[in-house]
Amino acid sequence: MEEPKLPIPEYPEYADPEFHTWSKYYGDWDASPGRLCENSLDIAHLDFAHPGLLGDPDDPNSSVIKPYETRVDDGGVWTMFYKELPPAAETFAEEGDRIRHETRVDFPFVFTVRIFSERGRVALFFATNPIQSDKCGFWLFESRDYDQNEPDDKYIAFNDLLESQDRRVIVTQRPEMVPTDLSEELHVKVADAGSIEYRRMLRRHGISFA
Ligand SMILES: [Fe+2]
Repeated sequence: MEEPKLPIPEYPEYADPEFHTWSKYYGDWDASPGRLCENSLDIAHLDFAHPGLLGDPDDPNSSVIKPYETRVDDGGVWTMFYKELPPAAETFAEEGDRIRHETRVDFPFVFTVRIFSERGRVALFFATNPIQSDKCGFWLFESRDYDQNEPDDKYIAFNDLLESQDRRVIVTQRPEMVPTDLSEELHVKVADAGSIEYRRMLRRHGISFA
C-alpha cells in the first residue's frame, strides 16, 4: 500500500474510556461525498430537514442562537453555535438544554459533529466512503459519555431517522457534485459561511468539484 497522504482526523472520544461508542455503515447514497460534508456545515438544514427532531422551521425561538463562529485551518473547517433542541432530540440532550453544537470537516471528506449539553458530550464521526463521483457511503461512529449502560437501540434508531431525512434532501441537490467555483451557486445566507469556507478549502487543494 502507498503511504497515507493525510493522518486520520482527530477523534479522541473513540479511545477515551469515559465514552461508549457504537458504529454503523450507511450506504450507498446517490450523492457525492462533498455534498454530505457540506450539508453538515449548513446550520439552517437542522430546522428544515429535521423539523421536530433537531429544530422547527416555524418557531423563531428554536432557530440558531448567536454566536455562530467559523474557523479555518490547514486541515479543515470548524463551525460552532448554540441552540435549543426540541424534546424529541432526547438522545442528544435533555428538554430545554441550550446545547453547544460544533461541526468540523477535515479535508477532504470526513466530518465530526459534537454536541455539548448539561448531560455531557456526544461526538458523531462520519467517515465517507467515496464510490464514484455521485455515489458514496459512510461509516458513522457515535460516542457518548452519558447513559453508558443503556442499550444503543434508541441512539441508532434516532440516527437512522436523521440520516433518512438528510438523504432525502442531499440526493436531490444539483449539480451532483459541489462546485468549488463560488460563482457557480448563489450564496445569500449567513448560514452558508461554513460551506463557503469548505469550498474555498477544496479549491486551495486544486479540486473543482467534490
Ligand atoms: Fe442533517
